[in-house]
Amino acid sequence: MNANGTWQGTLASSNTHESVTLLLAGPVARCTAWHTALQADARFRVTSLATDAQDARAKLSAHPEILLLDAALFAGPGPLVDFLTAVEGAVYVLLPPQATPSEVEGVRQVEMVKGVFTGDINLLELAGRMYADALALRQKRAGGLDAVWNRPTGGSGPVGLRVITVWNQMGGVGKTTISTNLAYEAARRGFPTLLIGLGAPDDLPLILGLKPSPNITSWWTNSSPDGLRLSIQKVDTLDVIAGFPDVLSEAQAMSTPVEAPNSIPNLIKTAAHYAGYAVVVVDAPPTSLAANAISVSNTLVLVARPSLEGVMRTVEAYRTISERLAGEHRIPSNAVHVVLNRMGDRLAAEEWHRAASSMLGRSFPPIIAQIPDEAAIGHAQDQRRVPLAASDGFARALKPLADQLLQINSAPGIASSPKKTINLGIVKLKV
Ligand SMILES: Nc1ncnc2c1ncn2[C@@H]1O[C@H](COP(=O)(O)OP(=O)(O)O)[C@@H](O)[C@H]1O
Ligand SMILES: [Mg+2]
Repeated sequence: MNANGTWQGTLASSNTHESVTLLLAGPVARCTAWHTALQADARFRVTSLATDAQDARAKLSAHPEILLLDAALFAGPGPLVDFLTAVEGAVYVLLPPQATPSEVEGVRQVEMVKGVFTGDINLLELAGRMYADALALRQKRAGGLDAVWNRPTGGSGPVGLRVITVWNQMGGVGKTTISTNLAYEAARRGFPTLLIGLGAPDDLPLILGLKPSPNITSWWTNSSPDGLRLSIQKVDTLDVIAGFPDVLSEAQAMSTPVEAPNSIPNLIKTAAHYAGYAVVVVDAPPTSLAANAISVSNTLVLVARPSLEGVMRTVEAYRTISERLAGEHRIPSNAVHVVLNRMGDRLAAEEWHRAASSMLGRSFPPIIAQIPDEAAIGHAQDQRRVPLAASDGFARALKPLADQLLQINSAPGIASSPKKTINLGIVKLKV
């Protein structure tokens, strides 16, 4: 997450009652003026500011719902139109006063451009239209998913979104147990939550009592919010997309380019941006497919055994994301958490953490929960019940993890905290 809140833009959930996300792009003075004008308007949330063309292009990756752009950032109509064709949100463009009618028309022709102005924009007048356009786009993209959403009951709902990958490079450590129960708890707390399995054959149908299909392969045949809906099964209020039915389908996913519409990153992005989930939890396998999930997550939970071998494997997993996959994901180091699973007579949490820090050569991410080794956990899964409901000890132990990750309004990097400094390079804005 960088200081200007790009993260927040990426992560905005898309419930209709929430403010719409806005990218302001223009010279510093223009951004400052626009920002001041929009700040007090609860319908909008300025998630990023860009003061040059390259920066604006980079910040489109956060999928702002509205782009308010001063064309002065571009050398001329050609580069401007090129840029505009890449925008997915509603765009309002301010052209210089000397723009010719044909230049104005050229910009107006771009699909997502909803308004073109010359000289100045009266934001007070425009705000209502921008908001209506953004909501209309939101609704269009949600594609009628309302029927399966688990909307939070009451309250204003979360303003941020968690995409949580639960992972380690080891099998059998408790990834599935932790991810299913964390997701179940998120749904129980009222967050619209989607759990995605990536195993092959996936354990989720087995332990959650689901049918073999639909599953993630349904998404391949229809890679749209509708296709996503058709892939879902429900466990109480939790939506679940079960993983691969066999290794052949897993192999097919592995050979799918990440940019393809039916890729796993795109499935997760569709859930996050267009389907209205506030929490997406991915039960990631030890295979290379985990990178697909990590690349679009903002939170990582490493599940580890409380043994020296567990330390070694987990340090290795952390190095993978902090070194080898650096630049290929946007998980800040303070959004990596360790869960020690099956505590017993092996290493105590402090010993584990000390060993991990010493092996890594710097402080290892914190241990956020310690789950006891309890026969009731396995028994519940054998009976296709969620252990949370079957074991108080397990529920108590998992609580710190859920509390930390589901404080969505104040989560680091996702917060819309009352005072935050936006660094524009030249000026600093308090928002
Ligand atoms: N805390 C625990 N106490 C007892 N059994 C556990 C615990 N956590 C996981 N298990 C059992 O260990 C096995 C592996 O757990 P699982 O969550 O499937 O691991 P992974 O997904 O990492 O392969 C399962 O049979 C599960 O029931
Ligand atoms: Mg598993």
